[in-house]
Amino acid sequence: MDSLLIKGGVPLRGEVHISGAKNAVLPIMAATLLTGEECVVRRVPDLSDVAFMGKILASLGAEVTLRDGELRVRAAKIKGVGDYDLIRKMRGSICILGPLVARLRQASVSLPGGCVIGSRPIDLHLKGIARLGGKISIDSGYVRVKAPKLQGAEIFLGGRVGSTVLGTANIMMAATLAEGVTVIESAACEPEVVDLANFLIAMGARISGVGSPTLTITGVKELHGAEHEVVPDRIEAATFAIAAAVTKGEVMIHGARLDHLQAVLEKLREAGVKMERQGASLLVKRGGRLKPVDVTTLPYPGFPTDVQAQFMVLMAMSRGISIITERIFEARFMHVSELARLGADIAIEGPSAIVKGGLPLSGAPVMASDLRASAALVLAGLAAAGSTQVNRVYHLDRGYEKIDQKLRQLGARIERVNET
Ligand code: EPU
Repeated sequence: MDSLLIKGGVPLRGEVHISGAKNAVLPIMAATLLTGEECVVRRVPDLSDVAFMGKILASLGAEVTLRDGELRVRAAKIKGVGDYDLIRKMRGSICILGPLVARLRQASVSLPGGCVIGSRPIDLHLKGIARLGGKISIDSGYVRVKAPKLQGAEIFLGGRVGSTVLGTANIMMAATLAEGVTVIESAACEPEVVDLANFLIAMGARISGVGSPTLTITGVKELHGAEHEVVPDRIEAATFAIAAAVTKGEVMIHGARLDHLQAVLEKLREAGVKMERQGASLLVKRGGRLKPVDVTTLPYPGFPTDVQAQFMVLMAMSRGISIITERIFEARFMHVSELARLGADIAIEGPSAIVKGGLPLSGAPVMASDLRASAALVLAGLAAAGSTQVNRVYHLDRGYEKIDQKLRQLGARIERVNET
């Protein structure tokens, strides 16, 4: 199992290019199942989650090739039963359910398990499929859907904490081939959902209200092949901006969509991080002293839960008290105990973490528990004095393209150590 060895205290300097978004490409890959014609997807990041989704598509019968960031999928003949073990392992694979039901009018997909960031139920996905006419049963760990007829419907997809990203993706995809009109209320507005909708439109789907909480989908008889370039990863961009700030560095971020980063940039500005737009790029540098700011995670356009852990590292370095409240995933504080090993003082009170920032951080061996927690530990290691070893780095490889290489290009002393 690989780990990352970081010698901290080096200000990051230089330029970084942002990759395609993991959370956009996964549902887009699932959407290729909606047609038998070839789809070409570009700016596909080299991530283990992408390779995994490729395997899932292939196990369903699709021809899949991925070379130099270009993915080609032809799902001419597919089956509706997913490989139990493959699908169970990756939460994102649940978004094959909508396309399979739409194309084959039936599907059997293993239930995704819980995960370290919370229970992650799929009741809203199933409610949406049922409203479209799907008959759902759960047996032997599979969700089985039979939908001889899919009929457009009005569907409220809001849940306990608001909209659902992959739930919206699933129901939008299923509705593209349903009869009549589907209206999804409380749809997720995340840029990744917009990117998927744009891909579906390029395939011939009729969708309006894209990017708003009300999506209207008029079903069509069939979809065709399409080409698409994946939206840049806003979470990767935010992670590099915070990396520049916590190391007192100066980093030029190229290729990000700054309009997708408003909530994060606003909080960085409040915290005293200096940012300058230069054309389509963003120069991030640490000005004077950092200030503590309170943050609450919310669905887009609010502050993303996927940046909560990284932002906590910045707050651990800001003298004073900040309160970080997690409203999307109740258990997404696994990084807190590991940050404590580096000297951070953070207490959890219900859905909030109270950060007493400004203590010096010093390197230590730490254990990554999920993707964004791992990113936070890498940031903390870059900022801390001495050496930090981040174990179980496979979590990072799921969602950050060549993160160690990109950081090294910015001057970080970071090495991958193989410990098999
Ligand atoms: N929820 C329900 N019922 C459902 C679905 C969701 O109660 O049927 C709840 C969840 O438990 C959670 C909230 O609704 O409290 C929002 O979850 P959502 O469905 O939006 O999350 P997701 O679609 O499963 C995607 C990303 C996550 C990201 C969230 C929120 C992918 C592959 N995953 O998950 O990404 O945190 O949206 O933005 O797109 C990550 O990249 O590290 C990651 C975890």
